[in-house]
Amino acid sequence: MLIAGNWKMNTDLPTARQLARAVISSVGKTRNVLVAVCPPLTNIDAVFSELHGSSVQLGAQNMLAGEFGAYTGEVSAPMLRAAGCRYVILGHSERRQYFHETNQIVNQKIQSAVASKLIPIVCVGESLEVREAGKAQDLVTEQLRTALDDVPIHSDVELVIAYEPVWAIGTGRTATPDQAQEMHAAIRAILVDLYGSETGRKVDILYGGSMNPGNAAELLSREDVGGGLIGGASLKAEEFAAIVHAAENAV
Ligand code: PGA
Repeated sequence: MLIAGNWKMNTDLPTARQLARAVISSVGKTRNVLVAVCPPLTNIDAVFSELHGSSVQLGAQNMLAGEFGAYTGEVSAPMLRAAGCRYVILGHSERRQYFHETNQIVNQKIQSAVASKLIPIVCVGESLEVREAGKAQDLVTEQLRTALDDVPIHSDVELVIAYEPVWAIGTGRTATPDQAQEMHAAIRAILVDLYGSETGRKVDILYGGSMNPGNAAELLSREDVGGGLIGGASLKAEEFAAIVHAAENAV
């Protein structure tokens, strides 16, 4: 299980430092749950220092495919690795929506991340319109198969998937545990098909979209829900810690 906090564009230097410290103290020691926070790029260094000596891992929210070069304003997987990141969120719906990231672009980024031994948290999920048209599974299948095309992983710990229905992100509206489990099972089947049952059955599939201390336990109790990608609730250390503790109890 992995609980990852996506701080999005919400912290400056003092608030990021303070939040990192509060997360470490509220979360405490976990036995079976991995915990990560993904601050804005300008806070990566500071948060890395704060996390030193704790078991909370660092992640980034985005990167460009490739290594080095003339790409003004961008950072790459080797640069994030050198800055202490273990994870990188890729293909988030906000990136797809506002920055026109296609499945092919997401695929290139995942290949670069994996080549640099950064663990991609690959986000997939449908809009409300697509769900209401009964096409959610088709869309997520297409997103995932294209994103993972030619992505070699050798063990389950090299990859994380996050199912984030767009209509549940930041809206306070959550997928029901049944809706989540249904999609997670479909994702699981694709992972088993691509990577074999040994690896495919163990890759963590996170749920994301208005997960909070009130709904986490039920969502995390479902068979294929292997953690959470948390936006809003990750900005409050006690709420984030409550979700981590719900995950501990669900393992
Ligand atoms: P939310 O965001 O928890 O605020 O809905 C989740 C995400 O976008 O990763």
